[in-house]
Amino acid sequence: MQIPVTPEENKKLPPNFIPEIETGLLAKNASISPKFLYDPLGSHLFTAITLLPEYYPTNTEKNIFTEYQDQIINAIGTGVTLIDLGAGNCQKAESFFNSLQPSHYLAIDFSVEYLEDALEKLKGKYPSIQMQCIGMDFSKELIIPNSIAKDKRTFFYPGSSIGNFLSGEALELLRQIKSQANDGGLLIGVDLMKEDSVLIAAYDDPLKVTAAFNLNILRSINSQLGSDFRVEQFRHKVKINHFENRVELYLEALEDLTVNWPGKSRAFQKGELIHTENSHKYTIESIQLLLNQAGFKSTHIWTDPKDYFAVIYAQ
Ligand code: AVJ
Repeated sequence: MQIPVTPEENKKLPPNFIPEIETGLLAKNASISPKFLYDPLGSHLFTAITLLPEYYPTNTEKNIFTEYQDQIINAIGTGVTLIDLGAGNCQKAESFFNSLQPSHYLAIDFSVEYLEDALEKLKGKYPSIQMQCIGMDFSKELIIPNSIAKDKRTFFYPGSSIGNFLSGEALELLRQIKSQANDGGLLIGVDLMKEDSVLIAAYDDPLKVTAAFNLNILRSINSQLGSDFRVEQFRHKVKINHFENRVELYLEALEDLTVNWPGKSRAFQKGELIHTENSHKYTIESIQLLLNQAGFKSTHIWTDPKDYFAVIYAQ
């Protein structure tokens, strides 16, 4: 079953990302927003990352979901509207369908092509759940369409995707979630601070899948901007920033080069970096504080035996 979207919502033009990309590329310290990592190939490469033994967040979160499934369902309640933020292949949400029995499932992702395929398959499998997907860049603003039931909205934000945001941006997003959850809540997965060796292995894996994922952002930008980045002129680089409690991803220029696109260009010197992603790591205290600041009054917290990852239901 398809939930009708209003004609206005249907007519929206695809967003124009060119000004945002240009600003990042032309800055003294060049950067590209991590959302451009998730073009169709990038989304598949990310799925491959989640299958790497070194990439602990996905497996650890899955183990927590399995181990504490009953407690989690108890905290949320059944028959809710499940709103999946950054749904990707929709697999994580699907693992809750049988126990949570949501009445509605709204899948939201930046990469809508990938999402549409995933949702079509799901619709056939769970005919009793009303499903809809929207392509949205909720890093800017989160707007749940009015056609979506207001009561018992359960936002689902797994995988520590919140880690991509600076603390001010994360707070803003959490506030918007809180204000649109009404009597519902938020089930969120958050990666916790841990020793460097574990982080390095996870973000600079020996098969170089993460390197491919990071380098692919240049091709994604080429198709958005019409630029002529050459992947072979860059390499994947990871730094741990202990001051900001985050893993930082960069692309390092291997030689002096110039990138051109319609109307503009940017020169890079050998060794110059393009910042592509921050992956913030929280402590139980720091994430609880952030959720409280966003207006959530209560939190249920589940962790794994090594305290690598936390799953939180906040209301
Ligand atoms: C999807 C943002 C949670 O930060 O771990 C994985 C993305 N980047 N490997 C993360 C990512 C490199 C991932 N998040």
